Amino acid sequence: MSTIRKHAGKFALGALLVAGFNIAVAQAPAAVESCTGCHNEDGVSDNPEVPTIAGVGSFFLENQIAIYSEGARPCGAEGFADHEAEDHCAIFSKMSEDDKLAIAEYFGELPYESFDQEADAGLAEQGEAIHEENCARCHTDAGAEPFDDAGILAGQPMPYLIQQFETYKAGERWQPESMAEVMQLSEEEMKALANFYAEAGQ
Ligand code: HEC
Ligand code: HEC
Repeated sequence: MSTIRKHAGKFALGALLVAGFNIAVAQAPAAVESCTGCHNEDGVSDNPEVPTIAGVGSFFLENQIAIYSEGARPCGAEGFADHEAEDHCAIFSKMSEDDKLAIAEYFGELPYESFDQEADAGLAEQGEAIHEENCARCHTDAGAEPFDDAGILAGQPMPYLIQQFETYKAGERWQPESMAEVMQLSEEEMKALANFYAEAGQ
């Protein structure tokens, strides 16, 4: 655990789920082939249902892979062809720990790019107020800071963000306890926040 201790101490689940050591990877590990069909070679999304996984932070990605592997987040990709063979639970249950770490290192270090979308300025302004009051203390720089170990929100596709807000509200995805307190959002609040993060990514 030594190389990740400074992060893992922050959230108990991270400390439990993230195994061992980091591997330095210069080239794409072979295992990324099971990801690129949906996440593209560069990890940058061109599909509103799919998040960008490039540049969101290797530690965060390691945690998400562990969370999918443990069944603490829905398996994902329901609307996709062959998803039963290809969803995250199916893929990660067959993958070695070394490959999972190599994939997280690889995508985590690639450059992040915002999704191409139009935000509504009025809704974004409402979203900013909600963000500042409830989210900004953990998601700094309008959710654009990978070192928060909380993913990147700024510039992710709005439909993906709204789907995740709903998943958190329903308690279907693991989340830090003090985040759960603020995730009982109304539909209007979800829309406003999604527009705020979309605008912040422009
Ligand atoms: C069939 C399409 C598909 C494949 C294949 C796929 N993904 Fe995904 N991925 C998605 C979708 C859709 C989401 C949106 C969230 C969800 O449904 O869980 C997602 C979400 C994620 C997330 C969550 C990111 C975040 O910000 O929380 C990670 C991490 C991820 N995928 C990694 C991978 C990796 C690594 C692979 C390959 C081993 C992979 N995915 C293969 C479609 C796919
Ligand atoms: C107490 C700190 C904290 C607060 C407050 C908080 N979050 Fe989070 N958030 C986190 C952490 C940590 C993660 C990463 C969880 C993980 O590793 O699975 C996260 C993850 C997320 C994700 C998933 C990102 C992704 O791509 O998978 C979304 C969406 C999100 N938060 C939205 C919000 C919103 C909206 C608010 C305010 C209404 C909020 N959070 C408040 C700490 C917080």
